[in-house]
Amino acid sequence: MYDYTQPLRRSEASRAKVRQRTDIELRGRHWTLLPDVFSPADSKSSLAHLDLLKFPVGGTFLEIGSGTGLIAVSAALAGCRAVHATDLNPAAVRNTALNAERFGVADQVTSVESDLFDGLRDAPAFDVVYWHSNNVWAPPELDINVHELAYVDPGYDAHRRYFREARRHVAPEGRVLIALSSRAGRAELEELAAAEGQALRTVDTTTVAEPEGPVVYELLEVVPL
Ligand SMILES: C[S@@+](CC[C@H](N)C(=O)[O-])C[C@H]1O[C@@H](n2cnc3c(N)ncnc32)[C@H](O)[C@@H]1O
Repeated sequence: MYDYTQPLRRSEASRAKVRQRTDIELRGRHWTLLPDVFSPADSKSSLAHLDLLKFPVGGTFLEIGSGTGLIAVSAALAGCRAVHATDLNPAAVRNTALNAERFGVADQVTSVESDLFDGLRDAPAFDVVYWHSNNVWAPPELDINVHELAYVDPGYDAHRRYFREARRHVAPEGRVLIALSSRAGRAELEELAAAEGQALRTVDTTTVAEPEGPVVYELLEVVPL
């Protein structure tokens, strides 16, 4: 199992760098980054997953854990009719709304503070539900702050709930997706999904060179067993 203390140390380092609102550049576009929000400039994961995703153009998209809004705003720019974005971190909810405004898609993007699906009220069933999760395992009793919550999920409690609840929010032909990496405990997550009557099927992967060695980023579909 990947050592959960590594991302916690990394989160402290990136927190120290982002003490005030700043701009980050990603592939020639400038995005607002607020303090205490997961930075897609400091992790290769967000862009790697963006490249693996196919948005439901003309349809509806729900992103859990939207952070800066990179994915939710990209979905709107790609032509999704309606995008909902949720995050447990209030700074991330503000950050997503700011970037939706910045890129002129505020009318397509609804940004909501929510623990997974809990804060979605009267939302429609979505064509695609997506979560680039905080997929590094950590001990259940670990006390973490909201910034660290972008990286680790103590006891995989949120993942268990995602596997249980996500299907209630997709349209009949819709898809539930989860973005993981080789740092995640894939075997444990398969077991948790199976306990909820779900299986994890690989949609696509990409391997990225990182200081610790090659990291595999995986887009998976959560399908009923
Ligand atoms: C790995 S970051 C991904 C951020 C963004 N989607 C991206 O790709 O750059 C995970 C995000 O999930 C959020 N998150 C963690 N647990 C959550 C939960 N239970 N409900 C909603 N969001 C959660 C974190 O605050 C963080 O913004």
